[in-house]
Amino acid sequence: MAHQDTRRFLKTAGMLLAGLVLVACGKQEAPPAAAASAAAPASAAAPAKVYVVGTDAAYAPFEFQNEKGEIVGFSVDLLNAVAEKGGFQVKFVNTPWEGIFNSLGQGDRDLLISSITITDERKQTMDFSNPYFDAIQLIAVKANSKVAKFDDLKKLKVGVQTGTTGDEVVTKLQGKTSTNIKRFESTPLALKELEAGGVDAVVADNGVVIHYVANNPDAKFKTVADTKSFAPEQYGIAVKKGNAELLAMINKGVDAIKADGSYSAIFKKTFGTEPTAPAAAAPAASAASS
Ligand code: ARG
Repeated sequence: MAHQDTRRFLKTAGMLLAGLVLVACGKQEAPPAAAASAAAPASAAAPAKVYVVGTDAAYAPFEFQNEKGEIVGFSVDLLNAVAEKGGFQVKFVNTPWEGIFNSLGQGDRDLLISSITITDERKQTMDFSNPYFDAIQLIAVKANSKVAKFDDLKKLKVGVQTGTTGDEVVTKLQGKTSTNIKRFESTPLALKELEAGGVDAVVADNGVVIHYVANNPDAKFKTVADTKSFAPEQYGIAVKKGNAELLAMINKGVDAIKADGSYSAIFKKTFGTEPTAPAAAAPAASAASS
């Protein structure tokens, strides 16, 4: 009796196992690119390559995680549209800002879209797409703060996200050895510290600061713009230095979405207005906006 039970058990287990193996095989054999774009003739036989995209998804409204943990935002919509036009496939992987450039250099990520400002220094170690967004640093302070310009931050405690252009400008203002610069792993963490009173100001990209202030009225922040002190910045998509093939596909996509109006639509979906900035304007369609 016990013997029969054992045999029946083994038989069932065997069938289950066989089933699992079948499922596993079935999964592997399923066409990998049902949703692939048709614009990649070279890969007609081989499964199309899916490029791995690094993004620091703590940067609303550009790149962030929704309630379901999915990476969403302006950059995601933009790159998906770029990839479709450029004829390639992408997969987003949340990547901490502090390791993001290394992940590209080491080949763990094929490209980065993370509101990355194109700078001469970064251009030494990576290649950038044509710019897709104009930005500038913006100061966040408590509503009752006396800060009126960037120079007023010289002796104050200032929060920044480590290694960002915000970090760069504040380091330049206060000096490399300043102990008044508080560096955070993410921009929202720096802004939380401002709310808690641990710093007197935060300097970060305007789009993110504006979004945070608008969505956190209880924090009682205000923003201070200083276009005389801050240089205009432009975001680009980064690829490993020398990856001309991928860069060409990306640029093809970037140019195409600017030209056909999809850039404006994505911009409007996120920011509620038409783009007016030069980097954003379509080559010949600027008359259509404001
Ligand atoms: N634009 C700034 C820079 O390139 C900040 C970008 C930070 N992006 C992010 N997803 N945390 O330095």
